[in-house]
Amino acid sequence: MRLRRCAHLLIEPRERLEFDLALLAVGGDGLRKPVDLVALAPHLAGEVVVSPAEAAVAMAASPTDWRPYDAFEADAAVVEALRAKALFVVEGSDMDARDRLVRVTHWRAVAAANHYASRWSDIDTEAAQERLAEITQDSLLDRLGPSPPPVRERTPPSQRRKLTVPAPSAIDALLDHRVTCRNFDRTHALTREQLSAVLYRAYGARVVHDYAPGVQLLKKGVPSAGALHPTEAYLLVQHVDGVDPGLYHYHPVDHALEPIRAMDAEEAASTARRFVAAQGYFVDAHVMVMPTTRFRRTFWKYRNHAKAYRAVILDVGHLSQTMYLAATELGLGAFITAAINEVDIEQAFGLDPLEEGPLAVTGFGVRGAERNEIEFDPLNAIWPAS
Ligand SMILES: Cc1cc2nc3c(=O)[nH]c(=O)nc-3n(C[C@H](O)[C@H](O)[C@H](O)COP(=O)(O)O)c2cc1C
Repeated sequence: MRLRRCAHLLIEPRERLEFDLALLAVGGDGLRKPVDLVALAPHLAGEVVVSPAEAAVAMAASPTDWRPYDAFEADAAVVEALRAKALFVVEGSDMDARDRLVRVTHWRAVAAANHYASRWSDIDTEAAQERLAEITQDSLLDRLGPSPPPVRERTPPSQRRKLTVPAPSAIDALLDHRVTCRNFDRTHALTREQLSAVLYRAYGARVVHDYAPGVQLLKKGVPSAGALHPTEAYLLVQHVDGVDPGLYHYHPVDHALEPIRAMDAEEAASTARRFVAAQGYFVDAHVMVMPTTRFRRTFWKYRNHAKAYRAVILDVGHLSQTMYLAATELGLGAFITAAINEVDIEQAFGLDPLEEGPLAVTGFGVRGAERNEIEFDPLNAIWPAS
């Protein structure tokens, strides 16, 4: 049986706070502050704490050479502990298969550690929101102090070269009306045409370009690093005329919905709630769009590249803004949130997170007639001044 170290391993020394009455009794603050060595390795489902001896052996081991157990210059117990924690993988094992997926996807170590450490599973932000609602502006300021200023000014006003504000255009009207929607109308369905138009403009491929044998690039309305467009739309449809509630994948070249799983209205609503970590005001969105990145497609070209993960996140920003504008043009409301349960979304759609996963939840739908939930509309573009 041979072993090797997993492909990517970062070890974070992380301080933990523990309350100890004995320390308080001798006049201290009652806090003990042990430091854990937390191993971050993307092929694992979560983090694992290692001992200093395990960390030293793991850091010195090769991630490429297979070796028998007794070839490691370390205690057998340490090697076995590293195997049990799957930081050493056994050739041909299930963990070896997971680790190989990290290798063939060409993840960069820090990007993979960041991605996997930031995914949530079954998080409910409702309690946190209730706590936030209790915090008054004053107590927030007491706690955080004033924010950094909105602009970093590099010159005094007298030295600024003023630019002419452009004459209002159609794009200004759209930008002014783009207000994140937290009030969706459950009593009116979205039309199939509205769904189609927003998806086409944000995610649809206008042309498939044969770049080289085996390499096809897409031309879309949004830019994408290398024209690879690795991010696709997975949908949770709740309230669209002529489209049954459930989970779908949008095919950007065929401009078609691929049904993944039908749901009744109740299951669709509870799934929506889970996806957005219980942010109630987004649950009613007629359609949720999960921008989901096939990391392997971009990392195929930008292998272990320092900028590759950043590039795919930037793509998601372009897609989201285009979706917002396409929805706004039709008089619809749209939203984006980063507070999402990635793990639940991956499981619902049957995605392997080592290869592809959601980076946000977005959505759109018919705006409600009343503003019951907060929206940031200081221009009063959507809501009249109260
Ligand atoms: C990356 C990102 C993450 C966001 N996450 C949340 C969120 O978790 N919950 C939420 O209610 N709004 C979220 N928003 C929406 C912002 O709160 C909103 O854009 C901001 O308040 C400005 O309002 P506007 O979009 O109407 O201009 C997010 C926006 C972005 C771009």
